[in-house]
Amino acid sequence: MSEKNLGPEGADGRAPRVLLAVCGGIAAYKACEVLRGLQRAGCDVRVTMTEDALRFVGAATFEALSGAPVATSLYGHPGSAIPHIELAEWADVALVVPATANVMAKMACGIADDCLTTTLLACHGCCPVLVAPGMNVHMWQSPATQANAETLRSRGVHLVGPDCGRLACGDVGEGKLAPVDQIVAAARAALGAGDLAGLRLVVTAGPTHEAIDPVRFIANRSTGKMGYALAEAAVARGAEVTLVSGPTALGCPAGARRVDVVSAAQMRDATLAAFEDADAAICCAAVADYTPARPADHKLKKSREHLDAIELVETADILAELCAAKGERVVAGFAAETDDLLAHATEKLRRKGADLIVANDVSRPESTFGADTNRVALVTAAGVRQLETMPLRAVADAVLDAVRDLGAAR
Ligand code: CTP
Repeated sequence: MSEKNLGPEGADGRAPRVLLAVCGGIAAYKACEVLRGLQRAGCDVRVTMTEDALRFVGAATFEALSGAPVATSLYGHPGSAIPHIELAEWADVALVVPATANVMAKMACGIADDCLTTTLLACHGCCPVLVAPGMNVHMWQSPATQANAETLRSRGVHLVGPDCGRLACGDVGEGKLAPVDQIVAAARAALGAGDLAGLRLVVTAGPTHEAIDPVRFIANRSTGKMGYALAEAAVARGAEVTLVSGPTALGCPAGARRVDVVSAAQMRDATLAAFEDADAAICCAAVADYTPARPADHKLKKSREHLDAIELVETADILAELCAAKGERVVAGFAAETDDLLAHATEKLRRKGADLIVANDVSRPESTFGADTNRVALVTAAGVRQLETMPLRAVADAVLDAVRDLGAAR
């Protein structure tokens, strides 16, 4: 890869440069929002489009938004005889939004039959390439597209999404373009913006709900605020964040990928799956330790069932499972306690095999559930570091500093 100044605060002080390659899919209009998001993040954006993309959004729109000519043809490009090479060498990162099955196939085969695909081919050795697929579920799942996606991945192309959801054609399934914020965050991470750029982090947050019957559940007082603050701070510092969240009233932090779960069992499965491709995890969720052994499939009636006991079984310890699987990766947990804070936290560090336990005394008003501040101690094998009472965002940054210093940042 050629030497370039990556990141907004690079040696020559210029803005990071993103080449946005827009293909002919219904999600092409979302590329406008991606362009705006990149500009808000301080990037200079140039656009290349396929002929088909022009049927969805006119070049004039991208020209007005980017303030520069849009490259749609190899010939007659204003001010450039060889636009594909100039664009590839200009860019710090190339971003394909939406990547159609056709363009992914061309990229995998090295086909360069228009301005966009020729430019992407020329990006090899010049800049990282990110691909955000957007297509019908059947096209995405077709063996050809899956093989092409694998080929691209094996060559270092970074795939952002696709997501699962309702598609333009009405089908529901995988193939939906990833959220704009997530695409922008991935581009920023590839640009090396932020001290956690490139770090793939899993954060668990919120409570879990353990069903007794279809209308009742066992839960706890967690609001998810601390976990969400961690996710938001990590995104702002360039990490790629998967937020596995129990039921909360909070909106997803911009740029994070949120996986919604309800029960401890669901949180375990989602967290272990996300951790497979991650560099670090922070378990902030207040996971129920017990769940009803046999949740009723109908609403229990007090006159009929005379419920006087609920048999409980232990849930899986997600943090301990992550620690068992972590290898060289960094895993942190929380200890929310009302007494003997540091003794319990130190015992959890050892018993679960974690690299860091963030101990907080939930009996104090400034560090209890739902507060906008927290007062924590960072407990590691090296010892205990007590922090002052601080806003959640500052606590989140201190926890992320500790995770980074434990070796998570690559
Ligand atoms: N945790 C987890 N899975 C569980 C229980 C807890 O991942 N089933 C994680 C929490 O997210 C937190 C840490 O483990 O990071 C400590 O949780 P806590 O409930 O305090 O620990 P327990 O081992 O359950 O101990 P106790 O409830 O007896 O204090």
